[in-house]
Parts: sequence; structure tokens; C-alpha cells
Amino acid sequence: NRPDFVRIVEVGPRDGLQNEKQSIPVATKVELVNRLARTGLRTIEAGSFVSPKWVPQMANSSEILEHVLASPPRSPHPITYQWLLPNARGLDNFLSVWQSKGPGQSAYPTPPPSPVEEESPVLNTSSQDPNAMPSESSGAEATGTSGSTSSGTAPQHELSIFTAATETFTQKNTNCSIAESLQRFEPIMARAKELGLPMRAYISVALGCPFEGPNVDPHKVASLAVSLLEMGADEISVADTTGMGTAPKTAELLKTLTAAGVENADLALHFHDTYGQALVNSVVALEHGIRTFDAAVAGLGGCPFSPGATGNVSTEDLVHCFHSLGARTGVDIEALSEVGGWISGELGRVNESRAGKATLAQ
Ligand code: HMG
Ligand code: MG
Repeated sequence: NRPDFVRIVEVGPRDGLQNEKQSIPVATKVELVNRLARTGLRTIEAGSFVSPKWVPQMANSSEILEHVLASPPRSPHPITYQWLLPNARGLDNFLSVWQSKGPGQSAYPTPPPSPVEEESPVLNTSSQDPNAMPSESSGAEATGTSGSTSSGTAPQHELSIFTAATETFTQKNTNCSIAESLQRFEPIMARAKELGLPMRAYISVALGCPFEGPNVDPHKVASLAVSLLEMGADEISVADTTGMGTAPKTAELLKTLTAAGVENADLALHFHDTYGQALVNSVVALEHGIRTFDAAVAGLGGCPFSPGATGNVSTEDLVHCFHSLGARTGVDIEALSEVGGWISGELGRVNESRAGKATLAQ
């Protein structure tokens, strides 16, 4: 089960920033997205269309979407942007921008091909460079599970919905029960399908809940994953919101998901690093065959409704680790580390990425 291409979903601009107490200028958020887009990352979660009363920091996500649509960051390959939303209102708010400025509209320019794309040997899969990208013909491993590949550099957009494996967390995060959250998703999924927008679904607190404790039933996670896939989700991101996951618990959860018929190709893993276990859990998941992982540059992040939980696994650490195991990510670790150092400085935060700091110090 030798790792090949691993797709990293960079959640720094959303999960990474949503819990910051200081007001972050929209220009800084846009600059973060633009800088990340130049590191070789292929998928970036750039904002969320949630209630500003609940998460004030994400209130200007419409403006970020406008920027991405009006002047897509130049990158050597197409980038998929993900947008988190909790309800139909969030979808309406997303669509009001996307449909007025999005694909097919005159306000949506096709950027010129990047010089990097023309010159780069990255599409050569025979390369031994761990940063080399997969060829277009390498299928799902290259594009993730949601068919988000495209020709040229035109960005793609995906939506993310979120529920959780415990009732208490679902109430605290979205003010509804798990069953109600699924009901909310039905019209959202139907609309997204009509519009051709791929849909990811998060399952929070899959390896521990801040309110119900560390022993979340893996069968509950698996049955939710099955339900969400049956409803039409293109990918399930299984989230260790609290960082309570350990290597054995991760292995048990993945075995349970497989036994329930959930294919690895339909899964992403989303580890927070509160207890320092995110990297080891990621390797356990990699060995199980998972090939999509969420991470945040500089280890930014945390959920406002998960008391005590800290940032996501740092993208730099994950990329460094996966490259050491012979996997390709397409990500330039030096460029990414620069972004991690820059955003940490902008936020006045300690850079939480060990590999990022070490790379910068070289
Ligand atoms: P509610 O208070 O029950 O909803 O919240 P409501 O319908 O009564 O609305 C309250 C107010 O918000 C109303 O405004 C609505 O119009 C407005 P008012 O009439 O009082 O002026 N509103 C909205 N505004 C903008 N966009 C919307 C929207 N919806 C309502 N979409 C609700 C229910 C779901 C809205 C709320 O609980 C919510 O927004 N929750 C989101 C919480 C959140 O963003 N959490 C963090 C993201 S999830 C996460 O981090 C975990 C993850 O990383 C994986 C992991 O690590 O676990 C993904
Ligand atoms: Mg998270």
C-alpha cells in the first residue's frame, strides 16, 4: 500500500482563521488565499457562509469569494475552492455572489496560462521529485474524489456542509439535532447537484467530543458517513475536532468505516493537533489507504464551539511527513513555509509548524 499522490485540502483561510478574536482585514485573507494558491496546493477552503452572529470572523467570506472570482490567483494548475455553509441561507448567500460573478458570466475572466505551467515538468509522473504532480490521466488520485479537475487554470468551486457524531456538539455548533442537520442538507444537496457544484460533508467530533467525552461510537460515525453519501455527498471529511484521536482509535474508526462499505476514495481525514497526535494519526490513515487530508498552514485553527481545541495539523508538517514516506503532494514545502511564517507574523501568532520553522531556518 505504498503512498502515491496525496491531496491536501488547505483549510487555513477558513478553519485556521474562524477562531481568531482580532478582526482580520479582508485584504489579509485574500492575500493568504493568493499566497497559498502559489504553493502547489490544489484545494483551498477559503471561507464560510455561516451566521455572522455565530462566527463573526467569517462575515466577509462573500468578499473573498468575489475576489477569487474576479481575479483568480495565478497558479500552475486548476485550484478548487471550498466554501462551508450550514443551511439554505448560507447557500443563497454563496450563490448570490457565485451566480452573478461566477462561471459563464462576463465578470469572470479566464486567466492567461501561467508561465510555470508551460515550463514545468510537473506533469511528468515518471519524475522522482516528491513535489511532482500527477498526470491528468492518473484519475481520482490527482483530483480528489469530487471530479474537480478542469483544463486550464480556471478555479473550481465546491461546497461543504457539516454535522457531527454527537448530539451535544451538533446543538452547540449548529443549534439543531443530527437528524435536523441532515434534513437541512437535503435541499442544499439537491440545489448543488442541479448547479453541478460538488459537495463535501464534514462529520465533526468523530474521535472525541468536548461535551460527551473521548469515546465516540465509531459505528455512529460510519452510519452518518453512509447516510451522507447516500444523500449525494461527494466526499466525507471525518474530523477529529478535539484532537482526542489516537493511533489505535484512528485505526478502529477507519476499519469500522471500511466494514460499513465506505470507500477510502470517498474519505478525507481532518485532524486537529490539540494533543500532538495529528501526524501519527495521519500516518495511520495513510497506511489504511486514505489519500485526502485536511491541514492548515502554520497549524492555525480551532472551532469556536469546541472549547480548548487548538489548530489543525500544520500543512507544512503533513507535507514534510508525506514526502518522507515517498508520497507526492504537489506542494512546494519552502514556498508553503514562507506563507506560514508570513501569516503567523500578520496575526501576531507563534508559528505552530515545526517543519515550517525548520525549513525557514535553513
Ligand atoms: P440559529 O441561531 O439557530 O439560526 O443558528 P437562525 O435561523 O435563528 O438565525 C440566526 C441569525 O443568523 C438570523 O439573523 C439569521 O438571518 C442569520 P437575525 O434574523 O437574527 O438578524 N443567519 C445567517 N446569516 C448568514 N448566513 C447564514 C445564516 N443563517 C442564519 N448561513 C446556524 C443556526 C446554523 C445559522 C448557526 O448555528 C451557525 O451559523 N453555525 C455555524 C457554526 C460554525 O460556523 N462553526 C464552525 C464551523 S464547523 C467547524 O469548524 C468544524 C470543522 O472544521 C470540522 C471539525 O474540525 O470538526 C468543519
Ligand atoms: Mg476543523
